[in-house]
Amino acid sequence: MGLRLKLNLVLILLTLFCLLGIGLYANKVLQDNAREEALDKARIMMESAKAVRQYTVNEIRPLLVAQQKRRFLPQTVPSYAAHSYVKELQSNFPEFNYKEATLNPTNPVDRATEWESDIINHFRNTKNIIEAIGERETATGRYLYLGHPIKITNSACLSCHSKPSNAPKTLIDTYGDSNGFGWKKNEIVGAQLVSVPMAATLTRAQDTFYLLMAALISLFVVLIALLNLFLTFIIKQ
Ligand code: HEC
Repeated sequence: MGLRLKLNLVLILLTLFCLLGIGLYANKVLQDNAREEALDKARIMMESAKAVRQYTVNEIRPLLVAQQKRRFLPQTVPSYAAHSYVKELQSNFPEFNYKEATLNPTNPVDRATEWESDIINHFRNTKNIIEAIGERETATGRYLYLGHPIKITNSACLSCHSKPSNAPKTLIDTYGDSNGFGWKKNEIVGAQLVSVPMAATLTRAQDTFYLLMAALISLFVVLIALLNLFLTFIIKQ
């Protein structure tokens, strides 16, 4: 085997080794970044929902106390306000989702599905856990979810969620007396769950990865070709 062939073989092996190492590392960094980007979006959405809940309690509910006596106004309920805000958001971002998934909800649309119940039970069974983050594969692609427990820390919540006899009559007229009661102080009754799509961020990460690898392969090919040219030139001398 000639010297040039040996040198080329060593160079090609080295190149492949470097490409593999850089490729694996870059892929991991890019995927992690894509996940962080999705998580940032989920956090903004979660905090916005919490802000809307707070605004409803502080500013809307006091204004409607009198009207509430005649007819129950869901607009005074923080959960209703947060869901209404997300419904508006979904007209432009239909894949973003927010739910106050609850094991025994007042409004049946808030009933937790199987995977949501697993998260709620995880919060109920694990002490001091404040957050759950994960990914789910669905028919419309991969989603990242962010979950926060809903714990009854304020006794005022129990006026509508403990016993039907304690709840305003107008609430019972609207929602009935069989759901959303029996909650207890300090009990975790559900979870706020935000789901954001990951497909677009993952595709962007993959495109960047392919571009980086194409640039590196071209660079190595040019370097090996130049080295060979250089060798030809030296040997002729
Ligand atoms: C004035 C009565 C009232 C009070 C007080 C109240 N809620 Fe509710 N809550 C409701 C009603 C009505 C709904 C259903 C709203 C809808 O149609 O989406 C609801 C919905 C919810 C939901 C969504 C799941 C479900 O049951 O449908 C959660 C979670 C919740 N409330 C938590 C709380 C917490 C926590 C507090 C105290 C900070 C509280 N609520 C105080 C009446 C009340």
